[in-house]
Amino acid sequence: MKAKIGILTLSDRASEGKYDDLSGAAIKEVLDGWITSEREYFYEVIPDEIELIKERLKYMIDVLGCDLVLTTGGTGPAPRDVTPEATEAVCEKMMPGFGELMRAASLKYVPTAILSRQTAGIRGHALIVNLPGQPKAIRECLEPVFPAIPYCIDLIGGAFIETDESVMKVFRPKQKKIS
Ligand code: MTE
Repeated sequence: MKAKIGILTLSDRASEGKYDDLSGAAIKEVLDGWITSEREYFYEVIPDEIELIKERLKYMIDVLGCDLVLTTGGTGPAPRDVTPEATEAVCEKMMPGFGELMRAASLKYVPTAILSRQTAGIRGHALIVNLPGQPKAIRECLEPVFPAIPYCIDLIGGAFIETDESVMKVFRPKQKKIS
């Protein structure tokens, strides 16, 4: 089964075409460097509007059938930053470990890492993970959490994702033997 990956960029300015969406492009570039199994990307840039974000997350998962949706932007403290709220509103289950690990790992790079409220959660057979809007934050945040993502998607019934182990080694606990 081909993995379907949604990339949703939240940015008022990028959605108006005032600058290029470098972070959305960085997500695809990073994943293409790691994932070897078949995959298809669905990509959108929209403004920081909570109802619109909820609608597009639901569309990517319920209609397009994405197994993984990575958002970028809108995770900070500013009034227009509402990505974590939109994520929580469409998820059945939150996965707080993702945000905890990404913030802790990001502190190596920026003292402002704790300003991101980035989180993750499960909707149906899909995992949603929030990333900050800085292009350089994409690799900084995905590197520590990605080893757990394919197994998380296995557990919720999504596509089987394989990687090039020389650049990204993922972890899948060994199957228990039935005696
Ligand atoms: N995390 C990493 N790894 N690298 C970064 O450059 N920027 C921080 C933080 N997390 C950053 C990071 C900053 S300055 C902010 S304001 C918050 O993410 C929120 O960013 P966002 O609103 O663009 O999502």
